[in-house]
Amino acid sequence: MSIAVFASGNGSNFQVLAERSRSQQWPEPVSLLICDRPGAKVLERAEQLDVPSASFIPKHYSGKAEYEQEILELLLRKQIKWIVLAGYMRLIGPTLLTAYSGRIVNIHPSLLPAFPGKNAIKQAFHYPVKVSGVTVHFVDEGIDTGPIIAQVPVQIDETDTLESFAAKIHRAEHQLYPKVVRDLITGKIRTQE
Ligand code: GRF
Repeated sequence: MSIAVFASGNGSNFQVLAERSRSQQWPEPVSLLICDRPGAKVLERAEQLDVPSASFIPKHYSGKAEYEQEILELLLRKQIKWIVLAGYMRLIGPTLLTAYSGRIVNIHPSLLPAFPGKNAIKQAFHYPVKVSGVTVHFVDEGIDTGPIIAQVPVQIDETDTLESFAAKIHRAEHQLYPKVVRDLITGKIRTQE
């Protein structure tokens, strides 16, 4: 039993999770990357880390159900227990939600329910709020709406630029996500089921 990370882009969270799962010898390591974008940087990171990856291109399927069914078959073959979303720019549909009920988590770069959806870092910075942060939550059918597991605040200081604030958010993500995922797989945090 192990963990699959789903990602579409850069993959810094994927990298931290994969490295941590090895160095701390998690009982269920990150053993698969699922990517929906050819050429994404995360695929390079997986290769460098020797984590197997599989790309599924949504437009090659007749619909979301067919797309997810093929992913599901691979997950089951690989005995994947947990799905960890890390910058996966796609809503999870009923096929995966049913098969992995209570075992799909996501990280979002704001204090939900504030600033759901895309560009959350930019939205918070330009609003402007004084405090934003990072949320890890269970995934349901909505956009960043599932039950919240953990949150950390991140200040926007007077001297922050969008770039420096974004860097702080990412540092907070890289600290929080591995900790929460480890607590989930070791049973310290209970799943929804
Ligand atoms: C992170 O900010 C995460 O919160 C959001 O997408 C971003 C992914 O970053 N869901 P990376 O690809 O892990 O670097």
